[in-house]
Formats: sequence, C-alpha cells, structure tokens
Amino acid sequence: MTTRAADPHTAALESDLREGFFRDPPTVPPRWFYDEKGSLLFDRITRLAEYYPTRAEAEILRARAADIVGAAGTVVELGAGTCEKTRVLLDVLAARAGAPRFVPVDISTEMLLDTARALAAEYPGLRVEPVVGDLTALDGPLPGEPGGRLVLFLGGTVGNFDEAQRAGFLTMLRGVMDPGDRLALGFDLVKDPGRLVAAYDDAAGVTAEFNLNMLDVITRTVPSTGLDRRDFRHEAVWNAGESRIEMWLRAVRDVRIDFPTLGRGRTLAAGEGIRTEIARKFEPGALVDELAGHGFLGRAVWTDGAGDFGLALVVVD
Ligand code: AVJ
Repeated sequence: MTTRAADPHTAALESDLREGFFRDPPTVPPRWFYDEKGSLLFDRITRLAEYYPTRAEAEILRARAADIVGAAGTVVELGAGTCEKTRVLLDVLAARAGAPRFVPVDISTEMLLDTARALAAEYPGLRVEPVVGDLTALDGPLPGEPGGRLVLFLGGTVGNFDEAQRAGFLTMLRGVMDPGDRLALGFDLVKDPGRLVAAYDDAAGVTAEFNLNMLDVITRTVPSTGLDRRDFRHEAVWNAGESRIEMWLRAVRDVRIDFPTLGRGRTLAAGEGIRTEIARKFEPGALVDELAGHGFLGRAVWTDGAGDFGLALVVVD
C-alpha cells in the first residue's frame, strides 16, 4: 500500500471525481473551471457580445446600488472574481462611517488576492478581508455585525446548482446569516433558446476553451492516463425540460481514462460526454417563493431594461 501527501486541492478533486465521474453521464463540478487561466477566460467571456448576463446585471446594480447596499456595514461577496460589477456597490459602502468591511470569497486564490489588493488601494476607507474558499461550504457565522450584513451572490451562479444543491446551499447560507441580514441574488431568466445557446457557445470559441481547460486542470491535479483535450469538443445545449443550459465535453472518439490513485477508470464511446456545468434559467416568481421557503423574505426583484436578467433582494426573517 502506498500513501501520498494529502494535498487538499488534489483530495478535493479526487473526491469530486469519485462522486461524479463514474456515473452516467459522468459529471465534474464547474468549480474546476477556475484555475488562473480559467478565471481569465471567464473574464473574457463576460465581455463577449453573446454573453449578456454580466452587462445586464451591471445595469441593475448601477440603477439600484443605494437600495441594495441599504444600511449594510459589511458586504460579503460569494464568488467575487474581479469584483468589477461590485465596485458600484463599494462606492456606496466606502462612503459610509464606521469602518465598513468588504469580504470577497473565491476559490481562485491568485485572482482573489490580486483583486483584494487593488480594492484596498482604491478604497482606503474600506476594510478588505478576502477569504479563499468554497462558497458552498461556508462555516459561519459570517464576519460583521449580525443584522448588518449584505451577502452578494451575483452572476447567476445560483443557476449552476441542481435543485438539491440549491436547497442545500440556501440552507447553509441561512445557517451562517442572522435575522436582518440581506442577500442580493442574481439569476438569469428564461428566454429564447437561440440566445441562451449562443451565450454559452460564442463564435470566438472562448467558452469552448474555458470548457476544455477543465481537462487540463484535471490532468495537472490528479494522476491520469488517457485524458486528452484533443479527444473532446465543447458543446452547449438547451435542456427545456430542466430549464437549463448544459455544457458538455463530448468525446470525438472512443477513449479510455484511468485514475490510478482512485483505482478506477472508465471508457467513453465516441459521442458520449462529460457534463461540466448546468446553468439553470429561472422564472422570477418561482425563485422568490423558493427563497421564502428557506427563511429569506422578498424585498425587491429587479430586471434590466431588456428583461434578460434578474436580481432578488431578500432579508433573513
Ligand atoms: C457566471 C458562473 C454563472 O453559468 O453563466 C459562463 C459561468 N459558464 N459561460 C454561467 C459560465 C460558461 C457562468 N456563471
């Protein structure tokens, strides 16, 4: 029997592979997109002509910044990335007396620490306290005064959970928040499938590269044989029954993939795929009801002018 140093990053991916890769269909969770390269690719996606969510959400944040920040003294952003959209909220927060605090949480260490450094320089009045971590596994309580916190979960990332994961996430979040704390939740809206597919399969191929990069992350992190990005192609499809975009890595020939440290392998026949992401698209009413069921009372639901994207502001009961 051999033992290896338990690098937590490797152990986490091995655990995700054990959980999802040997099922039908095989799945790998989207958190593994975001190494440094993947985070930069995602940043490019947000500026693509086809990818409307970032611009639509930024429009809502600009229009509603004062309402969203309200009287919060601490803003916690889950999956903060570059915080580009968040700056309109930080402008409001930083102008406030009493040492306001911003806590960006992200799994992409380099990007998070770069962003935190830049924000600390840009907003001298703001305490910037980055937390490197998995936003689905917060162990609370969150920083800041109970009742004075605003949690941001933007970009439509809530759509990357399936029903059970979303319920688990909202339960977890409610557990680390206190009555009076508020949550601003960005979510993408159901719309013409042609536009949805284009947003996840852009003409320049940036999303394809973002998807394929996950294979490089896997081969770099966990020992494997037979896993080669040249054997796969990017695919984005609209699943109407589940109201979601699905991103797949579709095998273009028969492949045999082994993970020696897991003691497991599997074959994929040409045409079979690995599902790397779901991006659920919502009807606003249903999501607000679901939030209420988890103890978050609706304060407001806004959309951008074109009605493409939504933002719900809710308060812990
Ligand atoms: C912003 C993380 C929610 O699902 O739209 C973009 C990620 N994936 N293009 C999304 C993503 C492919 C994105 N999230």
